[in-house]
Amino acid sequence: LSVKKELEKILTTAASHEFEHTKKDLDGFRKLFHRFLQEKGPSVDWGKIQRPPEDSIQPYEKIKARGLPDNISSVLNKLVVVKLNGGLGTSMGCKGPKSLIGVRNENTFLDLTVQQIEHLNKTYNTDVPLVLMNSFNTDEDTKKILQKYNHCRVKIYTFNQSRYPRINKESLLPIAKDVSYSGENTEAWYPPGHGDIYASFYNSGLLDTFIEEGKEYIFVSNIDNLGATVDLYILNHLMNPPNGKRCEFVMEVTNKTRADVKGGTLTQYEGKLRLVEIAQVPKAHVDEFKSVSKFKIFNTNNLWISLGAVKRLQEQNAIDMEIIVNPKTLDGGLNVIQLETAVGAAIKSFENSLGINVPRSRFLPVKTTSDLLLVMSNLYSLNAGSLTMSEKREFPTVPLVKLGSSFTKVQDYLRRFESIPDMLELDHLTVSGDVTFGKNVSLKGTVIIIANHGDRIDIPPGAVLENKIVSGNLRI
Ligand code: UTP
Repeated sequence: LSVKKELEKILTTAASHEFEHTKKDLDGFRKLFHRFLQEKGPSVDWGKIQRPPEDSIQPYEKIKARGLPDNISSVLNKLVVVKLNGGLGTSMGCKGPKSLIGVRNENTFLDLTVQQIEHLNKTYNTDVPLVLMNSFNTDEDTKKILQKYNHCRVKIYTFNQSRYPRINKESLLPIAKDVSYSGENTEAWYPPGHGDIYASFYNSGLLDTFIEEGKEYIFVSNIDNLGATVDLYILNHLMNPPNGKRCEFVMEVTNKTRADVKGGTLTQYEGKLRLVEIAQVPKAHVDEFKSVSKFKIFNTNNLWISLGAVKRLQEQNAIDMEIIVNPKTLDGGLNVIQLETAVGAAIKSFENSLGINVPRSRFLPVKTTSDLLLVMSNLYSLNAGSLTMSEKREFPTVPLVKLGSSFTKVQDYLRRFESIPDMLELDHLTVSGDVTFGKNVSLKGTVIIIANHGDRIDIPPGAVLENKIVSGNLRI
């Protein structure tokens, strides 16, 4: 009850132009918070989790083998591409939206996305639109940049996800005193995860607009996944299903490696496909969950969802996503929680959902500067906004790269590489401490460079390091 009062107080501080959307946000929050208080115990019963049946996760090769129809353009014209763009570049030490970080030849994530879709539209003479789901953290900066694409053959739309109040962990009351999100309220609000897409897309009116225009599916993905390009075979499978029964929801999954223990996996639960995240797993079963043999695949967050189904379920209030409780400590030391949802968790609410086991190349996320080093290097080549693994690499696997904390921020990372080393023959790179790389360095096999505290290692220009350990203040 006291939360309700607090929220009402906050709403009274909204100016008339922001009243309506603030009210919608706070109502949405109140429902989520109510569910949070009601729900006791784990959100899944481990005993009920089963391995998904054979045909519920199909290999991509099988989908691809069906080929493409003659009318690709008409199929493409039923598609809308949605990128999740609510996140900031903070974890890579950048201010502003993550999508505006330069990732390859001065191109940002957003530039690459626009180039990919423009290429599609030009090749097939179509008008596939791009929709960005922004958050209050990214909206202003993103919109400023969008002018840059005015002359591109891609119509770009944006809508904003909700803004929810952070809750004091002890009192369970909002820490915001009014609706503003600057000054002392900077840390008082948060975007409630990408599961928010269903309600905000619907509320924005865009969902209806696209349905009226004859669009049928959205392809949703993380904007920092450079492998999430429009796949015509999957689209064809959705539009022309072999058994005549359309899927309302397709989740692209990919095989786990031992490095991917964290991602959510698809399971069979009460007769439906369900995404289970590690946070939902009882402690005693975590190892079993992580095992590569029992749960072989994980969610790439590349999702194909029927627009009509989203509308129907949204109107029936039938999209059910587990609540993720995300505890945070704010700059001043205050402990808060934020309640979030994940877009893939809704899979169980849709009819006829399907997993497609796609090649690893469709999952190329850039979460750290170690990932950035890989995508900037000659391991990949860039064509019309898409990165493909260089044919010059003998093995199709990506090297394991671990850059230490002196490389965490993009700015520091860039400063430490005079040019990006040749990595075509690299298997494993670990760098720790104060290390810099000169121009045209070549890294091969396993390379470990460790500068101890107080030391510095400068790899000279043109150096070729092959299966080498460089440590201390040793020079090579
Ligand atoms: P995350 O920051 O959640 O990455 O952003 P993650 O933890 O690796 O991935 P998940 O959550 O397990 O899938 C994933 C994408 O979602 C957007 C980010 O901008 C990024 O593109 N995002 C995240 C939103 O749009 N809104 C949010 O509230 C959270």
